Amino acid sequence: MVESRLHLADEAATLACGAALAAVVRPGMVLFLEGGLGAGKTTLTRGLLRALGWGGNVKSPTYTLVEPYDLASGPFYHFDLYRLLDPEELELIGGRDYFSSDAICVVEWPDKGAGFLPPADLLIRLITAGGGRDIVVCSGSAAGKTALVEWQPLIQGQFSE
Ligand SMILES: Nc1ncnc2c1ncn2[C@@H]1O[C@H](COP(=O)(O)OP(=O)(O)OP(=O)(O)O)[C@@H](O)[C@H]1O
Ligand SMILES: [Mg+2]
Repeated sequence: MVESRLHLADEAATLACGAALAAVVRPGMVLFLEGGLGAGKTTLTRGLLRALGWGGNVKSPTYTLVEPYDLASGPFYHFDLYRLLDPEELELIGGRDYFSSDAICVVEWPDKGAGFLPPADLLIRLITAGGGRDIVVCSGSAAGKTALVEWQPLIQGQFSE
């Protein structure tokens, strides 16, 4: 497993960090975003989506559970499972069909979907720290490890460790 930890001093840093992920995520990848309410998970996703070419709004899918995006790289699904009452609900909305080999899936509150989600390629945790946030990124698969190794030089020097 490869792991990176960085400090993100402000919202712009979270957006830039998400944007750097755009260079290394590939279709078929699943990213779990962990961290408490307001930790910056949607902000990070917004940075990633913008860098993947999305020019529109990025709203939090808190009430819809999932927000789909049609990108040049293929389908992109942004989940927020905070309001999921039972992981089985994910099955009812056809949740598993989203996790296909051509889609990038980003999941906020993955704990709420335990048992009904595929394993993550990248596990990302955001933690409130010193007015900003700390971000810890771990690989969960061989593809995730490759992505993380590619990502490290991109973010080196941009943020303090
Ligand atoms: N590095 C940072 N430093 C300070 N504030 C930040 C940072 N990154 C994001 N924020 C701010 O934190 C707030 C919450 O962000 P966001 O909505 O992305 O959190 P979230 O983890 O998605 O929350 P939820 O669990 O409610 O969906 C926003 O106002 C955002 O601007
Ligand atoms: Mg959110």
